[in-house]
Amino acid sequence: MKTNVTSHQDDAARVVAREIAGLIRAHDAAGRGTVLGLATGQTPIGVYAELVRMHRAEGLDFANVVTFNLDEYVGLGAGHPASFRRFMDERFFEHVNVPSGSIHVLDGDLAAVDVPASCADYEAAIAAAGGIDLQLLGIGRNGHVAFNEPGTGRDSRTRLVELAPGTRADAARFFEGQGATPHHAITMGIATVLAARRLRVLAFGAHKSSIVRRALVDPVGPDVPATFLREHRDVTFCLDEAAAGELPQETH
Ligand code: F6R
Repeated sequence: MKTNVTSHQDDAARVVAREIAGLIRAHDAAGRGTVLGLATGQTPIGVYAELVRMHRAEGLDFANVVTFNLDEYVGLGAGHPASFRRFMDERFFEHVNVPSGSIHVLDGDLAAVDVPASCADYEAAIAAAGGIDLQLLGIGRNGHVAFNEPGTGRDSRTRLVELAPGTRADAARFFEGQGATPHHAITMGIATVLAARRLRVLAFGAHKSSIVRRALVDPVGPDVPATFLREHRDVTFCLDEAAAGELPQETH
């Protein structure tokens, strides 16, 4: 496990974007594609902005990139302003050349009866793509990873979940109040995430400092799902100084 603390979140975003670009270029040179696991939320916005910049300014080519997003709210159409699909389109996909057929975002607008098969198909699509080369992640203030809320086990896979009250409260600003905030989501599981070859976990700001400390210091287990990430053989926690503010010195 590595931690990389930068003075500003833009520096961390650039480091991660450069790593992604390096992976894409190395794979292209070797004649193979790159499979990226993508996250939504405030935290990875700078990474997407930098990747878009590199596409425009440096010709970074996404033609051989396949993407899988972590999660999606249930009950929102893909066009809903707060859907993760819409977020990804606006922040990233509309500005780069990932082929539309290579973009995978979980479908939150299915009949309940169709959800288990859709989740199994998602896992199968990740496997058919050769597994995820690099997974971007944020951490929720309650320690969730994707929408694996506290109480989630290490063996969890892609499935329907109920959102924790705090997660819904944090999301309410994107909806017309908490009453309109979805109660459920579909999410990759912890085991799905841990199967990626590299994990890059981003957390920025003082409001993340307490959960970052717990993620890095608490015993590994379901109380703080982000602790499971420490078990990965190639995980880097990319933090700004504010998010790292409560870490014991030896974890810096
Ligand atoms: C998003 C996701 C979530 C967020 C987390 C942090 O796809 O899976 O786990 O990464 O809630 O959100 P922000 O970045 O908005 O603080």
